[in-house]
This record gives sequence, C-alpha cells and structure tokens, in this order.
Amino acid sequence: MRFNMQMPLGLGSLWTFFSGLSHNGLTHHPSQPPSYPLAVRNPYLSAWMPSDRVHQLPSSEPQFWAGQELGWSVIVRVDGEAYSLMGVPDSESAPIIPATVRRAEFTSTHSLFDLTAGGIAFTLDFFSPVSPSNYLRHSIPFSYLTVHIEGAHGVEIQVYSDIDGRWTGQDDHSVHDFEERDGLVIHSLSVADAEKYSEANDMALWGDVILASRQSNSSTLSALAGDPKTVRSQFAQDGDLSGQESTWSRQNVVAVAHDLGSVTGGASVNFAVGYERKEAINYLGEAYTGYYRAYYPTTHEALSFFLDDYGDAFLESLKLDHEMVTFATAAAGPKYADIVALSTRQAYGGMDLTISNESLDTDDVLAFIKELSSDGNVNTIDVIMPAFPIYWVMDPNWIRLLLEPIMRYTDAGRWHLPYTIHDLGSHYPNAIGHDDQQAEAMPIEECGNLLILALAYAQATGDTGWTDQYMSIFRQYADYLIDNGVDIANQLSSNDAAGPLPNETNLAVKAAVGIKAFGELSGNEQYSKIGDERADLFFYEGLGTDEEQTHFVLQYPDFPKSWKTPYNLFPDVLLGLRTFSDEAYQMGSDFFSSVRGEFGVALDSRQDWAKSDWNMWLAGTFDTSTRDEFVDDLWAFMTNGKHNWPFSDRYVSTSKHGNEPGTPILCRARPTVGGHFALLALKGPASMQSLSDYKFAYDRPARKADKLRDNHISEL
Ligand SMILES: *[C@@H]1O[C@H](CO)[C@@H](O)[C@H](O)[C@H]1NC(C)=O
Ligand SMILES: *[C@@H]1O[C@H](CO)[C@@H](O)[C@H](O)[C@H]1NC(C)=O
Ligand SMILES: *[C@@H]1O[C@H](CO)[C@@H](O)[C@H](O)[C@H]1NC(C)=O
Repeated sequence: MRFNMQMPLGLGSLWTFFSGLSHNGLTHHPSQPPSYPLAVRNPYLSAWMPSDRVHQLPSSEPQFWAGQELGWSVIVRVDGEAYSLMGVPDSESAPIIPATVRRAEFTSTHSLFDLTAGGIAFTLDFFSPVSPSNYLRHSIPFSYLTVHIEGAHGVEIQVYSDIDGRWTGQDDHSVHDFEERDGLVIHSLSVADAEKYSEANDMALWGDVILASRQSNSSTLSALAGDPKTVRSQFAQDGDLSGQESTWSRQNVVAVAHDLGSVTGGASVNFAVGYERKEAINYLGEAYTGYYRAYYPTTHEALSFFLDDYGDAFLESLKLDHEMVTFATAAAGPKYADIVALSTRQAYGGMDLTISNESLDTDDVLAFIKELSSDGNVNTIDVIMPAFPIYWVMDPNWIRLLLEPIMRYTDAGRWHLPYTIHDLGSHYPNAIGHDDQQAEAMPIEECGNLLILALAYAQATGDTGWTDQYMSIFRQYADYLIDNGVDIANQLSSNDAAGPLPNETNLAVKAAVGIKAFGELSGNEQYSKIGDERADLFFYEGLGTDEEQTHFVLQYPDFPKSWKTPYNLFPDVLLGLRTFSDEAYQMGSDFFSSVRGEFGVALDSRQDWAKSDWNMWLAGTFDTSTRDEFVDDLWAFMTNGKHNWPFSDRYVSTSKHGNEPGTPILCRARPTVGGHFALLALKGPASMQSLSDYKFAYDRPARKADKLRDNHISEL
C-alpha cells in the first residue's frame, strides 16, 4: 500500500449510520462518547480527547487515560495560510487560525474529526489497530494519525504534527533523540536515567515516546525540535521545518512536517505516535518484550513495518468496524453497537502481548493486563473475568494467554494458599507474583473465576491440552469451592469497594457454576452433580432467594429484602452449563425493572452505583425486554454529556442517595469494558475472529529467533 494512499470514499459517508448530537454545529456519530480514544493500544499508550473539548479541537489538548494533559498538535497550511486542526492553545496560536470543526465520529478502531480550513476539507483519522489474532500487528506499540485532504483545487498544502515532553511522564527530566534514515524520521523522547519498570502517575518512565513519519514520493519531509511557539510559527511562515535545532528543554515539542506541494483532489499523510518499551514486562524477574520484536527488533524496523502495514491494517479495520456494528446491532440493537464500538480499543488498550526478551520465542506468548485506575495490579483474575466476553468474541486464545502467566506461577508451587491467587503482582509491569502470600484475598471469587475461564477457553477453542496440563490445580480449587461455597466466610467479592460480606448469594452462585464448570472440564460427573445440587439449594430450596422468589438476595439467610445483581449466572447461560434453570435466570426480569434508577440498576441494594460490565453480563441472562432496558440505561450513561473520562465502568445509577446520577466514580479506561461484549458473546465463540484472517496477507520476514538460532549454529 502506498504511503500517500487516497481514500476511495469519503470516510464520513462510509461510516454514517445514525445522526449524532449537535453542539455549536458539531455533530457526533454514532453518538457522543465521554471521550474519544486517539492512540490507545496498551496501558502506557493511551491518549484520549475528552468529548467536551472536541468543539474546540483546534485549541484542545488530549489527555493520558489517567487525566494528565498531553501536547499533541496538528497544523495545516493552505496556500501559505496556517490553520490549527488540533492542540494549539489560543494563547500561542497567532498567526495560526483555528479551523472549523464539523463532525466527530468513533468506530471500534478509529476516531475521526472532520474540519474545514481555507475552503478545504480535512479529516483527522486516529487509528489504533485491534487485531488480536494477528500478534505482530496487534503488539506494535504505535498508533496512526492520518490527515486526509479532500476537495483541493490546485492549492499548496503542508501538514504538520508535534508532540511534547509531557508524553514521557517526567518532562523535567526528558531528553530528545532524533534519527533520519531511509526516508524515515523518528523523534524519540525519554526520561534520563529512568529506573526500569518505573511509573509516574501511571505513565511509564523507562521507554521511548515516538513521533515518526516517512518520506513519500509526493511529499517533502522536514523535522525539528524546539520551543512550540518558535517551531509552529516557523511552519506557519515557511511550510517547512529545516531550521536550527535548539537545545532540548522541558517545554519543547518535536515536530514533523510534510510539504505536499500543489494538491488537486485528495491526498493523505501518515504519522506514527507511540510509546515503546523494549523491556515491556518484568515476568518473575525475566524481561518480556513486545511480540513484534521477534520480527522487528529495532525501533526503525518496527516503524518501517508499521507504516508499510497501514493499508492492510486499514482494510482489516474497516471490515472489523463494519461487522461489529452489524453483528452488535443484530444482537441487541444500535445502542448496543455504540457501546461495544467504544469499548473495543479500551478493552485491548489495557494489555500487552509479549514474548521473552531473551529468546524472542514466538511459540511462548504471554499477555498481561493492567488493573487500570483501581490499583494497577497485574493479571487480576477478577479483571480478566469481567472482560472475557470480548476475548470470547474476538479471539478466545487470549483467555489462555492471560491465564498462562498465573498458571505457571501456581504450577511452580510459589502460591501456597488453598484458593486461587488474586493477581500476579501488585503493580504493573511487575508480574513478580506474591511469594509472601500477601495478594488481596477473594477466595470464592477467584476460584470460581478461574474454573469458569478455563472451561470457556476449552469450549471456545476446542483445545483441551492446555487445561489438561493444569487439571490437578483446577481440581484443588473445585474442591475448595465444594468445601467453602455454602457457609461462606466473611470475604470480598470482585466489587471490593462494596466491602466484605459472609454468605453473599452471588458468590454462592459463582461457586455452584464453578464446580459445574470443573465437572465439564474434567469429565468428572461427581462435580457436575454437586454443582447442580448447590443450584437447587440456593434456588429451588430458596436459600438464596426471598420467600416469594422474586429475586436472589444479597446475603442469606434472613435478608429477604436485600438484593444484588446475580451476574454470575451469565457464564452458566453462555457455556450452556444449566447449573441453574430458566426460572432462576428469568426470576430477576420483573424485579430489576422495579429497582431501576435514572441510569439503570445499581450493583446491590446498599449502593447507588452500577457496574456497567456486570450489568451487561446480567442482561445476557434475561428476556429481551429487560435486556433492552439495561442496554438503554448504559447507553444513556455513556452519551449523557455529563462526564469526559475514558469509558467508566462504575457510575452513579440512581439519585436515591443524593448523588448526581449518570456520573462516573473512580474507574477510568478499565479493560473490564470487555464485559460489554456479553450479549455479542451469546452469538457464539470466535464470532468475529475470522476478521483477523488477514494475518498472513503479507510476507513475513524470517523470525529474529530463527536468525539468532542460525547464527548460533554457524558459530559452532
Ligand atoms: C515512488 O518512487 C519509487 C522510486 O523512485 C518508484 O519506484 C515508485 O514507482 C514511485 N511510486 C509512485 C506511485 O510514483
Ligand atoms: C533485552 O534484549 C535486548 C536486546 O534486544 C538487550 O539489549 C537487553 O539487555 C535485554 N534486557 C534484559 C533485561 O534482558
Ligand atoms: C451462612 O449460611 C449458613 C447456611 O445457611 C449458615 O449456617 C450460617 O450461619 C450463615 N453464616 C452467617 C454468618 O450468617
């Protein structure tokens, strides 16, 4: 695919399905999200544009997921006049004129902003590929910014972008590096003497911020670093950046500009923005690195590949975006399609896909997930669990890739407690285990989760080899659930913000389903029978319900008025276990309509806040009318314009405690939004996996590991 690829169709017309909301003439499509993902690919490459800034996009700066401001500007020049498309603060803008923002749009992989400047239509296309079956494409830690130009009539056009030192997480210690080779220019920014694997307010300090672009036949490239006012006004005046480099200082920007010369019709320019950590993860003391490094070990090679891959990645993304809307609309309507589209990049943006930095062995792939915004834990089982519907839909192998680091640790005998470990490390990217046995205790929660996830993987992929290998560990946890799943000791469940409880019904449900899942996984009917008996105890015999059987109670016995969303029934439905019966699933249908707040149903009878992921799980157990109420309520929260964080999975759903309904609480950008895919998941496993069949559409170079091996052999 050529670098200056021209769009066959206007991007807008391709993706217009529903009309959006209006703000100062600006429309949002398919609806207004709280924040637009710009470059969202892993826990440290996560730049967003709050949607309340979009109407002033020319002067608006994006944010890191945790809320820190980032400098990122885009300026164009039309016949000698400079216009800001994004990120030039008003105070610094002269002589740069703000463009007019017309339209904003998100799909599952793109955020698009249409602007006009100097009579020309520009589209900023922020594209973060999501390609979970194509490990090479998916693991590259860069995003595309493509500036499209349409409707030019022989005008001179130059396109410019810059980013600043704040992307490093510590701009007062930032240093700049620059490379220009084979037509590829690479600016990198890093923190001097940063400690490996260290963070500042969730931003990584030990990697390199990248801004890069490549010469094409139809443009002339220039680059510069320096004070933003100076660099931007030089571009505004001259249309290129061939100036004197100043010494780097914390307020500086790094910039790249393309001079396209005279343009008639359309043209486009690509930039790559990213954050590369060659030592990505510390797994039990060994460095793990991005999967792509087996093929492209240097930043230069990785960026060349990334820019070469644009055309294929783009075509794949169009197909994914389109089919996601189609499948999700068929599953639960257009509002549901909006919810899953906005959730996609965020769900995958909480993870890294890695191999050993030493062996670069591509047969040994591990995935890591960060518990963003709660505590930064690594591979938390009860984060993988709520998120798993998206893996089930997009590529169920990811369930194994995420669990394998934990299973190896457990199998090595380093975790001694009788129940499943909560996570693999207190803070990302240090997956160093808990040899002190001090992980957060959620005994029933995590045992049930692990068994259900293991069965989900085996069922979705047909691979029983992986689960067989760990069967004795799984059996230990199934036995734990049998021994401890009725008279349940005071303990936390996944929603630790709600505090611990003894005899929490939803945990008893999880235990029953987990035991049954182990029965299926092992083929041992004894366990399946016990799972069924537990379901009878809690439902038919009424231990877990009120007397009239209108709902499951929060806690048993003797708390008939209490309730909690029994979302742990969802995997029972999804995996066809039938531990519980249709009557048990349907019991809540009427009840939850009766406790619905302004923005839906709260987690339990004590709270005024809802968990969006669990609510989509629960919706998957209902008839369609109650299901649709849950979808409507989550969509209403997502689009209400009252908040501007990355998609929050925890929010005030009812005003009954006096809090403002429809506002988020604490949780930003969490990968748990993968749980929003629960309704799509019911259409079957891997239903969108075939989309990644572009995987071998290009020639792969020899693997670095093979090269290393060959070199080694020739040295002998
Ligand atoms: C771009 O330039 C290269 C080398 O000069 C040439 O082989 C190629 O055909 C050119 N591409 C276009 C589209 O003009
Ligand atoms: C990771 O690999 C690179 C070579 O690609 C090497 O320079 C570096 O020392 C390795 N890091 C560790 C921690 O092994
Ligand atoms: C938990 O439930 C069991 C079974 O009904 C009961 O025996 C036990 O007393 C309950 N524990 C608490 C703390 O209520």
